[in-house]
Amino acid sequence: MKTTLSVIKADVGSIAGHIKPSEALVESVKDCIERELGKLITDYYVSSTGDDVAILFSHTHGEGCEELHKLAWDAFICGTEKAKEQGLYGAGQDLLADAFSGNVKGLGPAVAEMEIEERKAEPFVLFTADKTDPGAYNLPLYLGFADPMHCSGLVLSPKISQGFKFVILDVEHTEADRIIELHTPEEAYDIAALLRDNERFVVSAVYSRATGQQAVAASTTRLHNIAGAYVGKDDPVMLVRCQGDFPATGEILSPYSIGHYVAGFMRGSHTGPLMPAKLGCTISFFDGPPVVSAAGFCIHNGKLTEPVDCFDHPYWDHIREKVSRKAFEIREQGFSGPAMLHYSELEYGGIVETMKRLESKFSC
Ligand code: F6R
Ligand code: MG
Ligand code: MG
Repeated sequence: MKTTLSVIKADVGSIAGHIKPSEALVESVKDCIERELGKLITDYYVSSTGDDVAILFSHTHGEGCEELHKLAWDAFICGTEKAKEQGLYGAGQDLLADAFSGNVKGLGPAVAEMEIEERKAEPFVLFTADKTDPGAYNLPLYLGFADPMHCSGLVLSPKISQGFKFVILDVEHTEADRIIELHTPEEAYDIAALLRDNERFVVSAVYSRATGQQAVAASTTRLHNIAGAYVGKDDPVMLVRCQGDFPATGEILSPYSIGHYVAGFMRGSHTGPLMPAKLGCTISFFDGPPVVSAAGFCIHNGKLTEPVDCFDHPYWDHIREKVSRKAFEIREQGFSGPAMLHYSELEYGGIVETMKRLESKFSC
């Protein structure tokens, strides 16, 4: 039997700015989905990371199922109504269309889906990030799947050492999906050449070369490419299958020790270190720092276990302190140089107006 895992997330309103959705909002999303349990869906899990609500569905209808996407859309509409009722900030923010039209992709919410043949034991991790964009997963995926400094299985396991296929999307190309498939280990440097540009090239999937099985599905939505204006950062979600023929859970988590600098943070316009945070975390300093949380599961016959919080361990407290220091250090230089994103990535139109106004004041 095949199982489909679909994670669909949106920011439809939060308390005190872009901090965290209310409990009532999250409950209203759950209530909407609960009605389809045992019918359209086999199981589900709803969580929040910063101001985003992510819905993980398990079902049997394959990727891009219209009814499933409609259920997610309706649930976010329910959440939006609750957000309006409570006067939450940014109610319905990520729902960019007035009505559902077949698939939530392109309508605002972020989506990652994969259809799998369940293994006897099927461990996987749901990553949800806030105040950043899909390129934030590029480096951890590269290191977790292609670098033996993090993935010792590349040295120790005959199946893992056969390498992986990376599917990489050019997210600037909005007319159609422009993708490239590259293989490790022989094309690792080509992969690095693309993935260094987090704002343009984004990993959308990874496959095992030993078995052909899909290991990763990641969201690739760039809201400003859809809306053509600032509508918030893209706060990506990702599913990663672990163990056996895939890297171990700990190998996948290992690169998050770096707290690498990503795009996002305040007004989606700055550079900040990605902090591995506990499930349900809020947002704080300078609308950040960018956070990622990791909920680990096993799934069996479509039924999910309870989540285990992969970053809730004393080790990660030490990392969080380091990441806080990195956040503080880059914030010390305010708007200068790499602390603020390149002009083309700035999420606010105001600076464009300023530049236009100043243009006429230049002497030649
Ligand atoms: C939202 C975000 C925040 C906002 C900032 C200003 O995803 O990243 O940093 O950009 O709080 O919010 P507005 O423009 O809604 O007042
Ligand atoms: Mg937001
Ligand atoms: Mg968000």
